[in-house]
Amino acid sequence: MYNGGKIIAGLIIFIGLFTFPIFYNMGKTSTMPESKLDTPAIKELPEAERKCVESKEYMRANHMQLLDSWRDQVIRDGNLVYESTSGKKYIMSLQNTCMHCHSNKKEFCDKCHNYANVTPYCWSCHIPPKENEI
Ligand code: HEC
Ligand code: HEC
Ligand code: HEC
Repeated sequence: MYNGGKIIAGLIIFIGLFTFPIFYNMGKTSTMPESKLDTPAIKELPEAERKCVESKEYMRANHMQLLDSWRDQVIRDGNLVYESTSGKKYIMSLQNTCMHCHSNKKEFCDKCHNYANVTPYCWSCHIPPKENEI
């Protein structure tokens, strides 16, 4: 009555097709590029202080909002100093603070932005770091 062989063969093909995208994407671009942190300024920091302005998780999710808020505070309110949650003070500057540590813009900012398909327009005015300094 039932053609067991055909059903099983059909099931195997179905499962194969259904899970193909999962296998196909394994080990491919679906993993985020690793952030390169080997810049002179970061290497100079003592290991215990090798941190960003805020926690890595916070920065990963919120660096755009943080930059927006820095810009507004500097330009609208003339406030130049940011106090982080840990009480450390930073001059609020894209070029002189962020890019001092992350002087490898191409390897750091750009690589992740390419992956995420975003193109911040900041660099038509702000000067990117000179990468040959690394
Ligand atoms: C004092 C040096 C320093 C400054 C200044 C600095 N960073 Fe960082 N940043 C780091 C370090 C070190 C890490 C890695 C932190 C870790 O692994 O815990 C990091 C991590 C990050 C990450 C997360 C990367 C990831 O893989 O998730 C982003 C995004 C980032 N920084 C952006 C910025 C921006 C934007 C600014 C300016 C608002 C800035 N950083 C200022 C040193 C700095
Ligand atoms: C770990 C990945 C990662 C790293 C590293 C990273 N970014 Fe981003 N960035 C993103 C993502 C994802 C977005 C888009 C977020 C969104 O649209 O909500 C973004 C958005 C931005 C934006 C807002 C752009 C827009 O058009 O809205 C700015 C500005 C920005 N990043 C600056 C920087 C700078 C400067 C650095 C290097 C110091 C940096 N980012 C490093 C992932 C990263
Ligand atoms: C049309 C030109 C222009 C563009 C585009 C632009 N900025 Fe600016 N930005 C300025 C000018 C001018 C200042 C004021 C500089 C000063 O007071 O020293 C400034 C100041 C800032 C400041 C505070 C001071 C400093 O030295 O960093 C931050 C932070 C900032 N911008 C972030 C951004 C980010 C992030 C982007 C992209 C999302 C961006 N800007 C795009 C022109 C621009």
